[in-house]
Amino acid sequence: MQCSWKAVLLLALASIAIQYTAIRTFTAKSLHTCPGLADAGLAERLCEEGPTFTYNLSRKTHILILATTRSGSSFVGQLFNQHLDVFYLFEPLYHVQNTLIPRFTQGRSPADRRVMLGASRDLLRSLYDCDLHFLENYIKPPPVNHTTDRVFRRGASRVLCSRPVCDPPGSADLVLEEGDCVRKCGLLNLTVAAEACRERSHVAIKTVRVPEVNDLRALVEDPRLNLKVIQLVRDPRGILASRSETFRDTYRLWRLWYGTGRKPYNLDVTQLTTVCEDFTPWPPALMRPSWLKGKYMLVRYEDLARNPEEDEEIYGFLDKHKVPASVRNSATRPRKLRFRLSYDIVAFAQNAQAGLAQLGYRMAASEEELKNPAISLVEERDFRPFS
Ligand SMILES: *[C@@H]1O[C@H](CO)[C@@H](O)[C@H](O)[C@H]1NC(C)=O
Ligand SMILES: *[C@@H]1O[C@H](CO)[C@@H](O)[C@H](O)[C@H]1NC(C)=O
Ligand SMILES: *[C@@H]1O[C@H](CO)[C@@H](O)[C@H](O)[C@H]1NC(C)=O
Repeated sequence: MQCSWKAVLLLALASIAIQYTAIRTFTAKSLHTCPGLADAGLAERLCEEGPTFTYNLSRKTHILILATTRSGSSFVGQLFNQHLDVFYLFEPLYHVQNTLIPRFTQGRSPADRRVMLGASRDLLRSLYDCDLHFLENYIKPPPVNHTTDRVFRRGASRVLCSRPVCDPPGSADLVLEEGDCVRKCGLLNLTVAAEACRERSHVAIKTVRVPEVNDLRALVEDPRLNLKVIQLVRDPRGILASRSETFRDTYRLWRLWYGTGRKPYNLDVTQLTTVCEDFTPWPPALMRPSWLKGKYMLVRYEDLARNPEEDEEIYGFLDKHKVPASVRNSATRPRKLRFRLSYDIVAFAQNAQAGLAQLGYRMAASEEELKNPAISLVEERDFRPFS
């Protein structure tokens, strides 16, 4: 069983603060090619209505955060979401998957993957262009008069929950909690949301649905975008521990193993692969390909937990100002915790996982090493952007 790394990766792609200042203006020019959609039923409609760049992108910074569950993505999302200059969307690619995947068996075949990626790239392009109408193709039921109550996790986006996009009666300048936002804001007017997007200097999108940076090369190299990538990774042993705490029923047998010291005969070993199934053995971006120069940053969950300066690094990469205090002290900040797994389980997981070392995660060689908090399993590494 090979365990690759994609799933531990949180990437944020963000704009290139490249050295030249050429002003690139692309107006009403469609780059749309729709390659992957050729085999999908939706192809014709979507390609005809493919994203067209109408907005002046030259001054915006585009950020893509690629994440996995339990990888600290909530926190990194908040780094951007809490900032008033940022238009932040939480997982808009959900709509692509939700619309396209039921048409296929599993969504895992190479053909499905191609379709998903092609559609996802098109959607990302249009969203970075502050065009929310292209997204409507994927919302079910389809929005009427460009309004909908079905945008996935609207409440996770501060802009979509505050004025003027949300204007609940009786409220002044409040910031709504996620649930309140959905209850109080009423229908989302996508035209108003798009205007709010245009007013901001940064567009940040978080997703767990893009498997690896290489899949985004076309976007990174698109001269109309100012895209920067931050990739968040987490020790898969920590993910396993965290998931078995959070998804207690699903990971019941792992907890039984931990509790009794005996490996249950019916342990679903593929759950370990699930932790890793989206991983690539080694983030190709760490090979430092020239097309990622200045546009890519890898962030380890463990560094976010132990080192608040990491926030500043991320902001520095994106040419942003000081990290707001509300973010610094956020309850979603990853906690510095030694994972609680038995040595048997850790050894088992380590054997299954290639690529630990390259990201600076040390194998625990013995039970003593595992239990001794003075022995760090995370080595110091510098993953700052390369140029
Ligand atoms: C885009 O921005 C440039 C530079 O600020 C400006 O000259 C141009 O008129 C803008 N184009 C549109 C369509 O707004
Ligand atoms: C959509 O807008 C049209 C034109 O303004 C209006 O006639 C129609 O009633 C609206 N539909 C809904 C469901 O609000
Ligand atoms: C959405 O907002 C736009 C711009 O303010 C407005 O013209 C339009 O009527 C609104 N749509 C609905 C359905 O309220």
